[in-house]
Amino acid sequence: MLSRKVADKLYAFETPFYLYDLDLLRQTLQSAVSVADRYGYCLHYAIKANYDPRLLQIIREYGLGIDCASGNEVRCAIEAGFDPKKIVYAGVGKRDKELRYAIEQGIFAINCESIEELLLVDSFAAEAGKVVDVALRINPDIDPKTNACIDTGQADSKFGISYEEVQEKVELIKGLKNVAIKGMHLHIGSQIRELHVFEYLCNKVNAIVDYLVGLGFKLDFVDVGGGLGINYDFPENEPVPNFASVFSIINSYLNVGDREVHFEFGRAIVAQCGELITRVLFNKTTATGRKLVIVDSSMTELIRPALYGSYHNIENITSKSANRQRYTIVGTACESTDVFDENITLPETKRGDLLTIKSAGAYGMSMASRYNLHDLPAAVYSDEL
Ligand code: LLP
Repeated sequence: MLSRKVADKLYAFETPFYLYDLDLLRQTLQSAVSVADRYGYCLHYAIKANYDPRLLQIIREYGLGIDCASGNEVRCAIEAGFDPKKIVYAGVGKRDKELRYAIEQGIFAINCESIEELLLVDSFAAEAGKVVDVALRINPDIDPKTNACIDTGQADSKFGISYEEVQEKVELIKGLKNVAIKGMHLHIGSQIRELHVFEYLCNKVNAIVDYLVGLGFKLDFVDVGGGLGINYDFPENEPVPNFASVFSIINSYLNVGDREVHFEFGRAIVAQCGELITRVLFNKTTATGRKLVIVDSSMTELIRPALYGSYHNIENITSKSANRQRYTIVGTACESTDVFDENITLPETKRGDLLTIKSAGAYGMSMASRYNLHDLPAAVYSDEL
């Protein structure tokens, strides 16, 4: 963990801020790309995880494409120098101007999530005088065995099109002149740690591809989404996620002929390279005896604990005390759920100490808000230290 090595230098920066370990990001990308290349897989980075320009620049150097969830994300990727032909765009509710922009930019595929969206893309493409490449995002009905808040592939979810609807509307879909259905897309959820879930995913993808081909669609690629989880409990034990295992499972179980296979990883690429560094403001004890440490960040910098009950490992990187105590770490926002963790053991922690909230590179900064008119957190990069 970078912050522990450079703790003394961190005092100089205004807190809170995200600290990024660029060498760890490179190591992670190197691992992902080298294993993906072995199998000929195409990697996209899910930019929703973190759109920091320096991280994007490094990710681009490793040749990844981008997975987007909005028109602004497509614009951000293009402005960061990514080739539109390596950009995919999913989202249940794409606005008209976002679809028109994606069509104008000629991205690799618009992943359509409803038949109405597909019809709209067809009509916008006709107006633009184009035939637009799309993928059908299918709802596979799989339980990804993760936190229910970040599970996207079960039958009742808002994401993707049901098999039934594709079958019902197959003639309508095949009659569209300005969309070319080039691929099949799915994404079943995030922070998947039980790797056998990827085995089920392959079985489903095989069945869906057979089914779509049976209906008369000729597919050039399958995009199996992202979702690979990371070790939040002990980040130091697993700074680079296990890409080799997941790709090996996919290679063993996926059976889609010579179609291109695409992935869209967000968390697995950037989570471990980012930490939120925050300073202790105050200590106090509640009437019930709970020792609170009040830090200068909050759910406005990192919302995951408050929103999903997610765990992030926290360490005091500056206290030298041998006396360890139990604390509850709370933030500055006017919300009772603004708690980073409860009853954790830290060395004696006092005003001015720096804490690190680890594994915060994904869905930290990108979900930051200005609630309570807080400033957005800054970024500090390992090569500035
Ligand atoms: N592809 C699609 C279509 C997605 O919806 C997502 C994430 C990804 C790829 C990337 O998934 P990843 O590899 O990062 O698991 N804010 C939540 C996570 C929401 C994920 C949304 N979709 C969190 O902080 O845990």
